Amino acid sequence: MCLNAMIRHERDAVLVPIPQYPLYSAAITLYGGSMVGYHLAEHRSWALNLAELRRALHAARAEGKLVRGLVFINPGNPTGQCLSEENIRQLIRFAYEERIVLMADEVYQENVYQDERPFVSAKKVLAGMGAPYSDGVELLSFHSTSKGTSGECGLRSGYVEMTNIHPGAMEQIYKCASINLCPNTMGQIALSCLVNPPKPGDESYEQYVDERASELASLRRRAHMVTDAFNKLPGVTCNFTEGAMYSFPNIKLPPKALEAAKAAGKAADVFYCLRLLEATGISTVPGSGFGQEEGTFHLRTTILPREEVMSGFVEKFAKFHNDFMKQYS
Ligand SMILES: Cc1ncc(COP(=O)(O)O)c(C=O)c1O
Repeated sequence: MCLNAMIRHERDAVLVPIPQYPLYSAAITLYGGSMVGYHLAEHRSWALNLAELRRALHAARAEGKLVRGLVFINPGNPTGQCLSEENIRQLIRFAYEERIVLMADEVYQENVYQDERPFVSAKKVLAGMGAPYSDGVELLSFHSTSKGTSGECGLRSGYVEMTNIHPGAMEQIYKCASINLCPNTMGQIALSCLVNPPKPGDESYEQYVDERASELASLRRRAHMVTDAFNKLPGVTCNFTEGAMYSFPNIKLPPKALEAAKAAGKAADVFYCLRLLEATGISTVPGSGFGQEEGTFHLRTTILPREEVMSGFVEKFAKFHNDFMKQYS
């Protein structure tokens, strides 16, 4: 809805991180705009690179594009990185100076597996920066029930919170929202629970706190298990899943594998993922589905298999990978 409101024609552009969650490229294309990618720095745990962001902005402007929005995903999908508060301040200053609407995709805010960079919302950082930023930067913050412990993927609903958005734009977005009538009842109930979690003294409070804490602790263990397993494999490097639900290893494919993929008419990472699926039943998404630096290959897998089946997953994957590398080395 927000992208639809933002995009008027093909010259209207939105900055999107690469690798990116493909909803953005698809929606921007559907609404007739242009996506401009800015690469995250893989060698620095997929950190935000402000120089790269500026490069992407200036290159787009040189092509006559009007950059109107900047998406950032915190914690990241598929990359799993968590932004520092300083990173968010940099984004806010950038948006202010360049007069761009910030789109903060914060749907994984509950899913954080390290303590150095806890989740801090863009709205909170913005408020703390004072004028001219706190009342001068237009911010759209998104959250969803489907990712945290309350939704568990099946319950779909979400919200956008708008800060400093022009009243005229708000009016148009309300109009667009009204076309959809109302979301389904279960989704509304789930969203109500998300924004009003049980409080001390409520009947379900203790159970809620226990379940949430044990689920997040288990996800943290699984994040370590999966990252460690990938990093033990030859030709594979993997940044730690600091947040969200994914692992996005970099796989150095040998020249013979690249040739075999070409002969099969497939991108090399697609070839690897299909072979993995056929050999093990493990379904992953090739990095080319998200965008990646030219000449690098990745795949995305989740850290969601239950803890008791995780070691089986890791073993199957390792066996497949070692066989694949042997075959094509
Ligand atoms: C980064 C990101 N943003 C937004 C969404 C959409 O969430 P929902 O379908 O719950 O609205 C997803 C879901 O996969 C996501 O990964």
